[in-house]
Amino acid sequence: VILDPRFKVDPTAGPVSDKLYGGFIEHLGRCIYGGLVDNPAAPSPAELLISQEDGTERTKGRAPWRKDVQKVLASDGELEIPMMRWPGGNYVSNYHWQDGVGPQALRPARIELAWLGTPETNQFGTDEFIDMCRANGWEPYICLNMGSGTYEEALAWVEYCNGTGNTHWANLRRKNTGRDEPHNVKYWGLGNEMWGPWQVGNLGATAYATEARRWAHGLKLVDPTIKLVSCGETGWSDWDREILQALVPFIDLHSIHFYSMLGHSTDSDVAGYEYEKNVFGPAAAERAIEITKSLIDLANIDNTFRGIPARDVKIAFDEWNVWDTDKAPGEIGLEQIYDYTDMLGVVAWLNILVRHHKDVAVACLAQSVNVIAPLMTTPDGICRQTTFWPLKMFGKYMKNGHLITLPSMPDAYDGPSYPVFIQQTNLAPRYVDMVCMAAEEEGKTSIRLSVLNRHPTVDWPADIDFAAFKLDKVQVTEVYSDDLAATNTFAHPESVTPTTTEYTAVEWAARKHIVRKHSWQFIIFE
Ligand code: AHR
Repeated sequence: VILDPRFKVDPTAGPVSDKLYGGFIEHLGRCIYGGLVDNPAAPSPAELLISQEDGTERTKGRAPWRKDVQKVLASDGELEIPMMRWPGGNYVSNYHWQDGVGPQALRPARIELAWLGTPETNQFGTDEFIDMCRANGWEPYICLNMGSGTYEEALAWVEYCNGTGNTHWANLRRKNTGRDEPHNVKYWGLGNEMWGPWQVGNLGATAYATEARRWAHGLKLVDPTIKLVSCGETGWSDWDREILQALVPFIDLHSIHFYSMLGHSTDSDVAGYEYEKNVFGPAAAERAIEITKSLIDLANIDNTFRGIPARDVKIAFDEWNVWDTDKAPGEIGLEQIYDYTDMLGVVAWLNILVRHHKDVAVACLAQSVNVIAPLMTTPDGICRQTTFWPLKMFGKYMKNGHLITLPSMPDAYDGPSYPVFIQQTNLAPRYVDMVCMAAEEEGKTSIRLSVLNRHPTVDWPADIDFAAFKLDKVQVTEVYSDDLAATNTFAHPESVTPTTTEYTAVEWAARKHIVRKHSWQFIIFE
């Protein structure tokens, strides 16, 4: 493999954006209550006072912030998350934002219809979310309730957040926050998974398109600077085709969701751990991105014939992850204990998102804490799951640079996969999967290379020549485990962690480097 500055891909495409590493917090299980803030039902008044030490006003209610968690999730924290999607997910389709603003003691508890029908206390609402975004450097991304919510409520929510005039909802925000400045929320989702029969108020594609177009018109009148995200499905569905045909002139991004492995964990047998499906399953996301991009192009072509100008609509992959309910104890399979194989699956995902950064403007890992998340909590502490490590390396290093073309790898996987159509293409995933980026920082070049060897039994002799870049040293961070089922738990928090080794350029040139079977390396040349 030869890395050469002449192989830079499309320098006009813009650098790889940090928005590929967005997060998602939903009012679901222990994500918000227990994860981001203390469970309002749990702490004693004395504990509330201790949690208020950071001095911010919004923590003075019944749901104090968990600073240990935010230290990890902040844009300048370990995971460097730049953007946060909220409040759902399925939850949003029965969420009425006015329940979650104003004095916390007066907020109504409501029945939550998306999941277990548990009461929602509304102690964490719009102003708490925005304050948390500000404190952690997250760009807020709010999803609107198109299930039980009304058009009028949606217009009012945008005015509440972004209004600067002397108007009712903007003034209510001023009263509630004690500040004049708007929340300035740029990203707004037009509903969540409205195609799904489980979604409160789910709609057919034609009905959704008509409604979403009406909402888009009004929302952009309230604030023309917002970016609207249409509700897509997987990207390869007829829903996506119809929605894009109807909405491309009115939207800025199109959302797609996909969880590799979801519900397909019992019918394979590699050491009992579903190895192939897990590490090759994300290939479906690559097809999803390519197909969505084509559907956007097609809608633009059709519109052009009708005299409607083309729009540069991007993809928001705003729910993605490896998810296997069998590895998640509990009623609805939310708190997945991620194992070593899942970590390899997450690397496959990250390689894909970076490879397609030109089309994917936003991606949000679902979710950020406790619920299918890289970070778990107890009231007393946190645990970094296996999947934490690639997220950390990509979030820190794989941004603000231009892609370098790599040769295509020879050995393709042709075994079972989900969805099956992946097998029907000539784009079968390779055993060795890589993505590479060159970054310039303070006048210095550095190359960042993610190498995933998915072969279950064969090491890859990685002959990587970076001499053309004239750099001095190489840092190899490897995550490897012999045990595909190894997990990090509160009892054993460091079963799967990275190790880092450094070489001079001279040592590297003389070295026979190996990327071991079923392992991942993140290599920095600088
Ligand atoms: O992230 C968990 C759930 O998965 C979300 O609420 C929903 O949008 C998706 O089906």
